[in-house]
Amino acid sequence: MRFFALLSSVCLAALVTLLPHSAASQAPQTVAQTPPMGWNSWNYFADKVDDEGVRAAADQLVASGMKDAGYIYVNIDDTWEGERDATGVLHTNSKFPDMKALADYVHSKGLKIGIYSGPGTKTCGGYAASLGHEEQDAKMYADWGIDYLKYDLCSFIPDVMRKQAPNDEAEQMRIMHAAYVKMGKALEATGRPIVFSLCQYGWDAVWEWAPSLGGNLWRTTGDISPHWDRIYAILEQQAGLEKYAGPGHWNDPDMLEVGNGKLSMDENRAHFSMWAMLAAPLLAGNDLTNMKPEVKSILTNRDVIAIDQDALGKQASRSYSEGEVEVWAKPLAGGGLAVAVFNAGDNRYSTHPFHLDLAKLGLHGAQQGRNLWTGKDVQLAQNMPLEVASHGIILVRIEQPK
Ligand code: GAL
Repeated sequence: MRFFALLSSVCLAALVTLLPHSAASQAPQTVAQTPPMGWNSWNYFADKVDDEGVRAAADQLVASGMKDAGYIYVNIDDTWEGERDATGVLHTNSKFPDMKALADYVHSKGLKIGIYSGPGTKTCGGYAASLGHEEQDAKMYADWGIDYLKYDLCSFIPDVMRKQAPNDEAEQMRIMHAAYVKMGKALEATGRPIVFSLCQYGWDAVWEWAPSLGGNLWRTTGDISPHWDRIYAILEQQAGLEKYAGPGHWNDPDMLEVGNGKLSMDENRAHFSMWAMLAAPLLAGNDLTNMKPEVKSILTNRDVIAIDQDALGKQASRSYSEGEVEVWAKPLAGGGLAVAVFNAGDNRYSTHPFHLDLAKLGLHGAQQGRNLWTGKDVQLAQNMPLEVASHGIILVRIEQPK
């Protein structure tokens, strides 16, 4: 037995050496070594997205300086899909006359392009999804030059999970898992590096199993909306997930709402800062063509982006909270530390400032740092009073924490 096992492993090794590289080993995906950055059509345009709008977004990423700041992916969300023909090929609808030409355009700007589908019969918007056509769709994406796929569970829940395993939730989860494995393999088989983004709202502790099937990011919650309460609720659900994030595989608390709805500038800054602290994908979700300068300056704050994109790839932990104020810390490459002091409350004033307890962050005595929103050097001292605006944040980078 042992002899045959040894012989077969020797033969296998010889075969692997003889085979051309691509056939011998599926090169591990090297995409998303830092959290993906870019833009996605859904949060602002939803079903209004079209070819022209995607080209405009690509143009604006370049013109606004966002591309230079790291925003690379131009992601088309739901509502691009048309009908499948008799051979199973899924065609685009009239809003997207030529997806290959659009991909070429986006690539010509030095950007990458993403698309959206799901494992069910229909997407969340009721458009054709990939059930039974996974390999065919993956190949088509690769032929178009797609670089990123967001794969959204949606109709797979009623169409397959609940139908095949009524009243058996554990079995439903196994079916869901298999559907993501299937698309992961289909993408891998194309040989094209394609970021694989799982969108199934955090079900069944997705962070525990998504990396093993090639998931580069996975939504941890239901949908975001441009309302402070929703953003805060999502943020609260990220504490404790930090150990699952790292180069190539990230928790995704959903796309950015910076610049959308009626968020105040403090709220936009806090949202952006905390997503950077979480090492979250930074996918802008606003109308780039009509972006206010103050929104642009938030989205292009390179010091904050550097926290998100830090090579160590650690997600922040919530060090402690006191009343409505939370203190989060994110270890950085080279031994640095980013510290966020965030006021979730509505009405704390200087009559009762927050006192920062550095000892709770494992820090000893005064720390030299830089406030990443003012750009000024600051010294943090034990118990120092800090006045943080309602829904505001103080974000400090300490190069040499003591
Ligand atoms: C939701 C998803 C959103 C968006 C939408 C499109 O399920 O969470 O981010 O993709 O579907 O229909």
